[in-house]
Amino acid sequence: MTASLEQLRRCHFGVDLGAARTRVYIRGAGLVVDQPSVAAVNTRTGALIAVGEFAEKMTGRTPGYIRVVRPVSGGTVVDIEMAQRMLRQLLGEKLRRALRRKPRLRAAACTPHEADPLAQRAAIETLVGLGARRVELVDTLIAAGVGCGLPVEQPEATMILVCGAATTQVAVLSLGSIVTAARIAVGGEAVDRAMVQHLRLHHELMLPSQAVRPLQLALSGNGPTANGPTTEVHGRDVATGLARSVKVDTAAVRDAIQTPLTAVIDGIGKVLRDCPPDLVADLADRGIMMVGGSALLPGLDQMLRQATGMPVRIAERPDVCAVLGLGAMLEGKIEPMVLDPLAA
Ligand SMILES: Nc1ncnc2c1ncn2[C@@H]1O[C@H](COP(=O)(O)OP(=O)(O)OP(=O)(O)O)[C@@H](O)[C@H]1O
Ligand SMILES: [Mg+2]
Repeated sequence: MTASLEQLRRCHFGVDLGAARTRVYIRGAGLVVDQPSVAAVNTRTGALIAVGEFAEKMTGRTPGYIRVVRPVSGGTVVDIEMAQRMLRQLLGEKLRRALRRKPRLRAAACTPHEADPLAQRAAIETLVGLGARRVELVDTLIAAGVGCGLPVEQPEATMILVCGAATTQVAVLSLGSIVTAARIAVGGEAVDRAMVQHLRLHHELMLPSQAVRPLQLALSGNGPTANGPTTEVHGRDVATGLARSVKVDTAAVRDAIQTPLTAVIDGIGKVLRDCPPDLVADLADRGIMMVGGSALLPGLDQMLRQATGMPVRIAERPDVCAVLGLGAMLEGKIEPMVLDPLAA
């Protein structure tokens, strides 16, 4: 599915439409958009009210006639028209005009590993609606591997773990290609959900969406954290509906998020079992490179280190690795590997 470097070099811009965030790289201009994949719509008139950060802030705080929508779900564009409108707004008039001036506009897009034909079609349609005459698709795993500077072209194995919002993808890369890979339908959102559920079940507290972050921070480290073994969170009492705050035991929260994390560890195990032994031996030294926004989840790297016994590293800018990798390929910074047949 992944387009060739030659084709990518001819693209004018690259887009990573994620379940949580949308990122756009324009050749020659760099990363120009990094905003939540959210739009707020007036249901009476159909008009777009806000997109990106501002629309995300509106989540759960809107009157009945304003609806906050996410046109991308599980790594797939589910509402093509809304995704196009959101992208147009995020790009703004100036960038849109700059793109319109290009003759035969070409675009590239990251798609999750083994995206089904319908999902691929949706990504292509979205960008065609923005004026692209041709759209090249790149596997997110390859783009992220390039973006975090893994030596993907060497005959040595490297393992990459892309921790997104809706999915986690894991692959062993060697000689510029994917040797084995798995896509797990669990990501940052599932971890957040597990925390919200824990609060609801054990403390009868409904947690607002923004209150998850302090709990995530409390998870870093293995034992009691700097704030002590408990963290205070504010929410709404399930029974009375009144505002209330509770002290939450961090160890219990760490247990609560084990279920989604076990799925990730199972996925890593599956990829390792499918991988040729020579490459597994490389991996024991080189370890796992974590990218994606959820790689920043405090303590996740340590949990993986314990579970796999392998070295685990987090990329320098994990959240934007995939789009920067796509950008590097558009700019022609990546040399194609030449695997010429040897002369006899
Ligand atoms: N500092 C942080 N600590 C913990 N989690 C974080 C942090 N920053 C981002 N996240 C989480 O990372 C996720 C977003 O990651 P990312 O931007 O890679 O998603 P995406 O590319 O939109 O999703 P996908 O690739 O699954 O479609 C969100 O679930 C968010 O909660
Ligand atoms: Mg992503």
